[in-house]
Amino acid sequence: MRHLIQTTDLDTDEINEILKKANAYLKEEATHTLKGKMAVTIFFENSTRTLSSFEIALKKLGASVVRLDVSKSSTAKGESISDTAANLNAMKPNAIIIRHKNAGAGEHLAKYVSCPIINGGDGAHAHPTQALLDLLTLKNHFKNNLKGKKIAIIGDIKNSRVANSNIELLKRYGMEIILVAPPHFLPQTRLKTTSNLRSIINEVNAIMSLRTQTERHDTQTYGSLKDYAYDFCITKELIKDKDIIILHPGPVHRNVDIEDEILKDPRCKVLEQVTNGVAVRMAVMEHFLL
Ligand code: NCD
Repeated sequence: MRHLIQTTDLDTDEINEILKKANAYLKEEATHTLKGKMAVTIFFENSTRTLSSFEIALKKLGASVVRLDVSKSSTAKGESISDTAANLNAMKPNAIIIRHKNAGAGEHLAKYVSCPIINGGDGAHAHPTQALLDLLTLKNHFKNNLKGKKIAIIGDIKNSRVANSNIELLKRYGMEIILVAPPHFLPQTRLKTTSNLRSIINEVNAIMSLRTQTERHDTQTYGSLKDYAYDFCITKELIKDKDIIILHPGPVHRNVDIEDEILKDPRCKVLEQVTNGVAVRMAVMEHFLL
């Protein structure tokens, strides 16, 4: 049984196939290829985009979706998540999509079930479908040619599952990555790093801005959001008329991660990423369920 826990669970041919299908779904109506299949979504952490995106993707393909309301589930009564998973599995779903605050939660659950587990984000570890939709957005913009293109990943990189998954995937497709963050947000890495965004702005083709993951900090790690924004917010003053595109997985902290004016700028791909997310998840669910 195959699971999608991290981007390395898919080889490059499979990813190319998924992205090709996703592009087709951006242009044409879906047929009900997953009719008769049932998927369970179980999200122990908040989500706006990822949860609805998976559910819309599954429904567009004709699958039925059961959303487990975690606040009302028996995990809230002390049942372990492995037991919850084994019980859900006994109802014979065709897939379980999970988000959890603990890194490794999906991999752990995979031991108790007989259907694919799709990771919708586990702690600071991985968020494979987000990285796939980011890859699609970048590939479509750069006409399939990512080799040698430079991207700055900016923000709370150390605590970001989105950064982790993107670093693996974008490197695989030949992009050069520069990590830009205050020193305490930078992971141990061999990649180029800097805390001075202005010093690299003229060399990059794309920016991926990330939210400060305050829920994963034990203590407040910077003076104030205003100070952070002064150094790392993507502003018109910073990017001027440069040929740079801006991505962000959401939720965006307005005027901390990205300035209002840039969110309205055609170079900002945030809503295109959301649209691409549905198409990518349709292709991913077909890949694992057919
Ligand atoms: C991210 C997540 O939850 O990992 N958002 C998303 O899935 N689109 C990023 C975040 O929470 O900042």
